[in-house]
Amino acid sequence: MKNKGIKYKGIIFDLDGVITDTAEYHYLAWKKLADELNIYFDRKINENLKGVSRLESLEIILKNGDKVFSDEEKHYLADKKNDYYKEMIKKITPQDILPGVCDLINNLKEREIKIAVASVSKNAKTVLDNLGLLDSFDYIVDAEKIKNGKPDPEIFLNAADGIKVEPCCCIGIEDSKAGIEAINRAGMLSVGVGNPETVEEADIILKDLSNPSDILNLI
Ligand code: G6P
Ligand code: MG
Repeated sequence: MKNKGIKYKGIIFDLDGVITDTAEYHYLAWKKLADELNIYFDRKINENLKGVSRLESLEIILKNGDKVFSDEEKHYLADKKNDYYKEMIKKITPQDILPGVCDLINNLKEREIKIAVASVSKNAKTVLDNLGLLDSFDYIVDAEKIKNGKPDPEIFLNAADGIKVEPCCCIGIEDSKAGIEAINRAGMLSVGVGNPETVEEADIILKDLSNPSDILNLI
């Protein structure tokens, strides 16, 4: 296994699709916008949007249509999607934390493993707040301060720095292709959850985090 013999001291979580199922809300909000624009969009295309910033996601969607939009119009469309998304995440409660995640967090804290969130979502803090998890992490990356989104390793390196753990002693958990590439490029151990094809480049592939010992056994 990569990083064999390493003592892992930090776990860096992606948010959407790892801690809670907001990946589904991102999909539904994009689908609503794409339908309004009469542009074909499905779950398969959506897999490529996971972990990708709002404007980059819009660009991917627009490739399937023949309309040309100005930068101003693109910002308007991205804001519109974000309005749909913000409406959806209003109803999030702690019950929306995915199975096993709370147990895993508690176990990691007991073992004094540092934990961070690395999401490029500008809505990450609202989602964490609604989940009741805002104070549960040692560090939450501020997406506004990240210049290069996933698959660039910047966000994971920023998280490692935030928890003061060397990248090689960190494990990153992701549900997106771009995210797994970012973790691998950061020199961390990558754990992929969700669609196995999407996370095929991960060092370890799990269906989900419902069994905390899948992660605890790596430490
Ligand atoms: C995460 C999600 C993406 C989303 C991005 C930006 O990476 O996986 O689907 O596009 O965040 O989210 P935002 O809430 O800022 O639009
Ligand atoms: Mg994700």
